[in-house]
Amino acid sequence: MSLRLLVSSTTGFLILFLINTDASLQSLSTLRTGKFFPFFGVGLVRFENGPCGGNSTLEGTCYTRRQCALADGVGTARCANGIGVCCIIQRTCGEVSSLNNTYFVSPGYPNAYTNTSTCTFTIRKCGPDICQVRIDFLTFNLAQPNENGTCVTDAFYVTGGASNVPILCGENSGQHIYVDFNMANDIVLTISTSASTIASRAWNIKISQIGCNCPTRAPSGCLQYYTDLTGTVNSFNYGSAGSQTGTRQLVNENYGVCVAMQAGYCGITWMQSGGAYSFTVTNNTYTSVGDGTIGTGASSVLGSNCTTDFVVIPAPIYINGTLVNTDRFCGNGFPPVTSYSKPFVLTVVTNQNEVNDTGNRGFSLTYNQVPCTGANLIG
Ligand SMILES: *[C@@H]1O[C@H](CO)[C@@H](O)[C@H](O)[C@H]1NC(C)=O
Ligand SMILES: *[C@@H]1O[C@H](CO)[C@@H](O)[C@H](O)[C@H]1NC(C)=O
Ligand SMILES: *[C@@H]1O[C@H](CO)[C@@H](O)[C@H](O)[C@H]1NC(C)=O
Ligand SMILES: *[C@@H]1O[C@H](CO)[C@@H](O)[C@H](O)[C@H]1NC(C)=O
Ligand SMILES: *[C@@H]1O[C@H](CO)[C@@H](O)[C@H](O)[C@H]1NC(C)=O
Ligand SMILES: *[C@@H]1O[C@H](CO)[C@@H](O)[C@H](O)[C@H]1NC(C)=O
Ligand SMILES: *[C@@H]1O[C@H](CO)[C@@H](O)[C@H](O)[C@H]1NC(C)=O
Ligand SMILES: *[C@@H]1O[C@H](CO)[C@@H](O)[C@H](O)[C@H]1NC(C)=O
Repeated sequence: MSLRLLVSSTTGFLILFLINTDASLQSLSTLRTGKFFPFFGVGLVRFENGPCGGNSTLEGTCYTRRQCALADGVGTARCANGIGVCCIIQRTCGEVSSLNNTYFVSPGYPNAYTNTSTCTFTIRKCGPDICQVRIDFLTFNLAQPNENGTCVTDAFYVTGGASNVPILCGENSGQHIYVDFNMANDIVLTISTSASTIASRAWNIKISQIGCNCPTRAPSGCLQYYTDLTGTVNSFNYGSAGSQTGTRQLVNENYGVCVAMQAGYCGITWMQSGGAYSFTVTNNTYTSVGDGTIGTGASSVLGSNCTTDFVVIPAPIYINGTLVNTDRFCGNGFPPVTSYSKPFVLTVVTNQNEVNDTGNRGFSLTYNQVPCTGANLIG
């Protein structure tokens, strides 16, 4: 937040001018009123429309009271030394937003949404130097895919961007994706719902706009991007198949999960994170449960035997130092491996039919970055 004095009074009389030249404000004014008003009030004070906390669950952006009202926002605490108000922006089906940190919620959120509809939400760049959006699924409860892993009842999809985003459904709360803008085109999120029987259906999706030179921008080709030293990556709709027939895995995926290499770290170790079932990617999971091999090397499938659904980790090495000699992993178990190949990427592939993959949950893998040693530095 920058607060600075712009003008001094010659009369000794201080007149406040709130001047705001932020690009998002301009689009806001165009959006809501059709008029263009680059300045606010009469003023000495200028402040940035930066993040300001909001409330415990939603992040706000600092605007003047008037801007917040024009944007149909909800003002919470004061910001910019009391001049601005921390404004939470929520939108729903059929709306457009070019404001950073807009929340796209299901109609009636947080109540369940039980209507059949095709709901679209349009994301417009908040400025010419915006290249990407990060989309956080704070709440994402849609119907499960059918037994073959296809999103037939409910589906979330992204159009208009430059990134290839798989069609999603099921439970994805806590997941995120990055989508690149395709030049000046809008990015459109569509959620189609086709049955009224999904008791818990609801969504609350945060959209943050990322500048082209922003250090947090995800590299091209990374649908997901992690920046911590350690973390857990789950496949979309990861979870227990429970009483449901078929699989939790979704069809037709092909995406990269990238991890930003931290200074002083040269490798990355991947391992199953959530117990025996946490890598169940091909074949009948219940067979591996029945014979006791679930989550072990005996149920791990590698290389050319992985032709339908698999993850790829470049140049992996077993923990004992032996080369794996292939980069594809599938089956119902995953051996811990380390890769020194850069950048750090896990590629996820599923084919168009999960018909033979009964009881698969997908994967939950933990990564740890590995510090450089002298040997790594020389090699
Ligand atoms: C945060 O603000 C939003 C928007 O006004 C509101 O719906 C939500 O209930 C608030 N959450 C809390 C925890 O106050
Ligand atoms: C659901 O659809 C009905 C009938 O079209 C409509 O009256 C109602 O407002 C809709 N509810 C929501 C939450 O959109
Ligand atoms: C799943 O795929 C199989 C084989 O293609 C097909 O016979 C079955 O009808 C499909 N199930 C559903 C619910 O579409
Ligand atoms: C949008 O808000 C996020 C904080 O949630 C911030 O990191 C980012 O820089 C903002 N984007 C722009 C274009 O101001
Ligand atoms: C593929 O599976 C067959 C049969 O289980 C096995 O003999 C072969 O070694 C496997 N190939 C690889 C690359 O793991
Ligand atoms: C290293 O571990 C792998 C996977 O468990 C095993 O297949 C391989 O035989 C081990 N190599 C040595 C030299 O122990
Ligand atoms: C399925 O399991 C069998 C062993 O039971 C194995 O040979 C085969 O490679 C596995 N296929 C896949 C795609 O996991
Ligand atoms: C399922 O597995 C059977 C037996 O291995 C194979 O013949 C069939 O093509 C597979 N179905 C699909 C949709 O992959």
